[in-house]
Amino acid sequence: MPAKILDGKAIADNILKKLKKKLKYCRENSERFPKLVVIQVGEDPASTIYVNKKHKACKEIGIDSEIKKFPETISYPDFLKEIGNLNKDNSVNGILVQLPLPEHLNHKQVFETIAVEKDVDGFHPFNHGKNLLGKKGIQSATPKGIMTLLESTGVNFEGKNAVVVGRSNIVGKPITLMLINEGCTVTVCNSKTKNLKSFTKEADILVVAAGKCNLITEDMVKKGAIVIDVGMNRNGNGQLCGDVDFENVKKVASWITPVPKGVGPMTIASLMENTIEACKQQGNCTCSV
Ligand code: GUN
Repeated sequence: MPAKILDGKAIADNILKKLKKKLKYCRENSERFPKLVVIQVGEDPASTIYVNKKHKACKEIGIDSEIKKFPETISYPDFLKEIGNLNKDNSVNGILVQLPLPEHLNHKQVFETIAVEKDVDGFHPFNHGKNLLGKKGIQSATPKGIMTLLESTGVNFEGKNAVVVGRSNIVGKPITLMLINEGCTVTVCNSKTKNLKSFTKEADILVVAAGKCNLITEDMVKKGAIVIDVGMNRNGNGQLCGDVDFENVKKVASWITPVPKGVGPMTIASLMENTIEACKQQGNCTCSV
């Protein structure tokens, strides 16, 4: 039997619908509601698409949203000053700096500058640290969305072999910790791992965030595995492709995410949840969302 499709778009739409309903109540019954500021530096076309999607989702469900664009030439001190101003601005509940940033804007330092309680991306070392310890904090949006997708399959995490391909700070490392915290036995690989197949073949849960078109083929996947594809790549013809050879891997997996409409929409839904939660934690939303 071919894999069932883990429909991230449908699950995300359902989350957004519920949030919209709650925010409508909030808007009718209070004077304060969440506000997100999304920062983009430069004109990277992919970043523009992502930033616009985040802004549109906010508008659709009733979160105030502003896109702040800065030229690539902005100096590091000026950029940090802008973030400092947003930290101090009580009307702003969430701050998101879209990656990638130009080299001269040290992104690790930038994420340390964002106020912990406004860090809706969950990239501040303090929020990463909370995730490490399995404590409640703001969780990075993409890994949080992946966990929601996995939970929707009804999988019992305890004792499962999970393999993560990719070791980035924004997906690979945080999803590894979340899976560990749920009781999985986790192996972390990357695109350079020798004999990658010997690891992926053991995975009950396979999360691939390596940024390589069709890296994972049918022969590398255990029968009945749940396969999550975080990849968003372009092949030689400029077509969108994931890290997983979807058409063939779906013959052996039990569940599989498509690209697009898999993990991508879940990142946005999780970001909306984080923004609302941040607003609540700051005591700024005077109604309960
Ligand atoms: N660039 C690619 N993914 C992300 C993300 O989840 N957050 C931010 N801020 N930038 C990204």
